[in-house]
Amino acid sequence: MKLIIDTDPGQDDAIAILLALGSPEIELLGITTVAGNVPLALTSRNARMICELAGRPDIPVFAGADHPLVHTLVTAEHVHGKTGLDGPDLPEPTMPLQDQHAVDFIIETLRAEPEHSITLAPIGPLTNIALALRKAPDIAPRIKEIVLMGGAYFEVGNITPAAEFNIYVDPEAAHIVFTSGVPLVVLPLDVTHKALVTPERNAAFRALGTKVGQAVAQMTEFYERYDKDKYGSAGAPLHDPCTIAWMLDPALFSGRHINVEIECVSPLTRGMTVADWWGVTDRAPNTLFIRDIDADGFFALLTDRLARL
Ligand code: BDR
Ligand code: CA
Repeated sequence: MKLIIDTDPGQDDAIAILLALGSPEIELLGITTVAGNVPLALTSRNARMICELAGRPDIPVFAGADHPLVHTLVTAEHVHGKTGLDGPDLPEPTMPLQDQHAVDFIIETLRAEPEHSITLAPIGPLTNIALALRKAPDIAPRIKEIVLMGGAYFEVGNITPAAEFNIYVDPEAAHIVFTSGVPLVVLPLDVTHKALVTPERNAAFRALGTKVGQAVAQMTEFYERYDKDKYGSAGAPLHDPCTIAWMLDPALFSGRHINVEIECVSPLTRGMTVADWWGVTDRAPNTLFIRDIDADGFFALLTDRLARL
């Protein structure tokens, strides 16, 4: 399957990219970067570092939006560290950043490839995707689906009591995406907080005995601190890799087709994903909203794919 990953690496973004690169079913056409966990210059650096770690400097990386549509950028160094990719000691990238803007790459690629052949996996704030949809509305019906990490239902917020980080950073962009009519698959915190890197699972990464296995273990050891201290989590939640795993093996997940709207107005609940799980409104479903995961199956898949790099 042809894929574009839109990302703000972020250790869990990095592992999502590695999972895609280790999976022969996926043809990664490019990586587009966005400001989120850290500012754009760092997310663009980190994405290239990960391609080089995987031995894939041929993957084109395009920088996109350096700020959200309306609000000031909110970052998450408190989770991911100063660089966004704290933990492993990786060399600075030498592969180039592409000259083309990420939004134009997304538009051109969708126009050039056959209809419904390209999946988008946004795993950061949705700014680039919204800008592309707004600049070129003709691309919407050409997208096969958008499989994104964002939002929450029962698990509610990790950046405010009401909102998940990716949606909170750019709710107006999320609103554009959720009302675009493009088929959406959403992997919210309800799922990703079940995909926890326990010590045994991390030992399995390290036991791969490769540079990739070692770096992944060091990344999760760094950013698990936040979730352990804050929520008493059993390990680092692998938010973003859930999107790629869903594409590879949707049978590992379960959810419902429901309506999801984004709160953009209230200062108290800005960025909340208002998910009509029980179908109490007559709003039409716009999302396959995932709530559950076979975590052991997910980690078996991930470890197997990382072993190929
Ligand atoms: C999301 O926010 C970021 O910190 C992670 O990379 C993930 O995409 C989780 O809320
Ligand atoms: Ca991310």
